[in-house]
Order: sequence, then structure tokens, then C-alpha cells
Amino acid sequence: MTFLHKEIMNFYKIIFFIFFILFTYDLNSAAGGACKDYGDCDKFDYSLNDIESLQRGASTYINYCYGCHSLQYSRWGRVATDLQIPEDIFFENLVFDKSIKPGDLMTGAMPEDSANWFGVAPPDLTLVSRYKGDDWIYSYLRAYYEDSSKQYGVNNLVYPGTAMPNVLLALQGNQKLVCKDIPMIAANGGQKRDEYGNDILKKKCGFLEVEEGTGKLTKEEFDDLIYDLTNFLVYVGEPIKATRERLGWYVIFYFLIFTALSSLLYREFHKDYNK
Ligand code: HEC
Repeated sequence: MTFLHKEIMNFYKIIFFIFFILFTYDLNSAAGGACKDYGDCDKFDYSLNDIESLQRGASTYINYCYGCHSLQYSRWGRVATDLQIPEDIFFENLVFDKSIKPGDLMTGAMPEDSANWFGVAPPDLTLVSRYKGDDWIYSYLRAYYEDSSKQYGVNNLVYPGTAMPNVLLALQGNQKLVCKDIPMIAANGGQKRDEYGNDILKKKCGFLEVEEGTGKLTKEEFDDLIYDLTNFLVYVGEPIKATRERLGWYVIFYFLIFTALSSLLYREFHKDYNK
């Protein structure tokens, strides 16, 4: 192998290595055990091209969350444009303070001394999907349960002792921690049975269960609501994300073509060496 050959092989190895790292490294999974008593966080797959989901999420956010949590790094007008909501409709339905202009930042509706109300000031959520992860948010908002020992009568499996009340309780209903009898699994992976062939059950606690008929939404509807809400928070955390990911494919495509062309060119030049 010529020296030049070796150089080029090394170059390809490095490129392969970089791509390998890029595609296998997942930031969120590296955090590990972030969902505390909940166990593993539920997986969340955002879909930023689903504009309707983002619109529903924005509406839920402004109606249920914006009273406490600002989005101080985004502007009203930008959100309206990105979510393809005509500005007049957006301002009429989602912006309650009529003095707000499209260029204003979403600085929240909370007075400065709110820390005294909850013990902790509700944090700004513009970047929450970046530092907590979407899996975490999606799990957190669905993991409230009744706990009379706490200030608001609720606690949370993902964020034990959270200072945030369960603001969606009326929609979700009373969620409780319950115990269930579950089949025991033998070492070979099958169910354990006693000598009469009955399943051997084991009591296990810590399951979340909503008391039937206490919430306005069914479990699926509530999960969808939280899906849209989390999707919206992913969008707000990086409004350009959908565009960036689309462009990324073009860039990779360009590299592939470029690599092919340059290797052809290399072969062409190389002919001269062999003369
Ligand atoms: C009544 C005020 C209030 C409302 C309304 C409210 N929150 Fe909160 N939220 C809080 C407080 C206070 C905290 C801080 C909790 C703590 O750290 O113990 C918090 C924390 C959070 C966190 C964790 C942030 C972090 O950095 O740890 C998320 C995510 C969150 N809220 C999302 C929401 C969403 C989504 C909604 C709307 C469905 C909402 N909140 C509505 C008061 C509120």
C-alpha cells in the first residue's frame, strides 16, 4: 500500500468512527435513572412536523401552565408563525393580555414574589426539554398521585416532593398508588405455578391507577394531551429543530455525493503515479 493509500484509509476510518458515535450516542439515555421512583422514564418520540399537535400543546400550555411558568426566551409572534396560526386568531384566543405585541417575549403572568407561594419559584420552561429531557417531562406530568401528607394532597413518582400542584387533576382524575397481585416469573421465564396448576401471585405495590370516572378525560386522551404538551415544550426549547434536522439530511447527502466525486477524482489523479 502506498503512503497516500494509507492516509486515505485512515481518513475513512475516522469519518466512520465519527458517524458511529453520532448515531449511537443518545444524550437522554446517558443520564440514567432520572425518573426516580417511577423507574425508567417513558420513552417520548417528538414529532415536530405535526403542527396540529404543537397547536394543541401550545393551547394547553397557555391555558394551564403559563399562569405560573414563563417562556421568556420565545416571542409570541414567532410561536404563532411557527405553529402556522394566523396572528389575529392567535392573539384573540391565546393571548389574554391585550397590551401584548407579537414581538414581545413570553415573560409570564407571575408576580415576582411567587417563590413565597410555593417555596420554590416556578422555573421558566423555555429550555426545560433541553435540560430535563422530553422523556422526563412526559413521565413527570403523568406521575402525580394522591398523597394526603403533602401540601397539595399530591406527590409525584418522577419528582418526589415537587412543589408544583397537580394542575391537570381535573382532567386526569384522582390517580392513586395501588398494589396488585402479579404472577411470579420463574427463572426459566415462565409463570410460577403451585402443585395444583394455579398461578402463584405476588403482591406488588407502586402502580399508578386513576379512579374511574373522576377525570374529564380517559387515560388515552390524557396521555395524548401530555404528548402534545411535551411536543410543544420540545419545540419551544429549540424552534429551529425541525428545520435543522431536515437540513442535516441534505448535508449528509451532500457529503456522500462529495465523497464519491472526490474518490473518483483521486482515482483519476492516481493514474499518473502508476505510469
Ligand atoms: C400553580 C403554579 C404552577 C402551574 C399552573 C404549573 N406549574 Fe409547573 N411548577 C410549579 C412549581 C412551583 C415548580 C417547581 C417545583 C419544584 O422544583 O419543586 C414547577 C416545576 C415544573 C417543572 C420542572 C421544572 C424543573 O426545572 O424542575 C415542569 C416540567 C413543569 N413545572 C411543567 C408544568 C407544566 C407543563 C404545566 C402546565 C400543565 C405547569 N407546570 C403548571 C408551579 C406550577
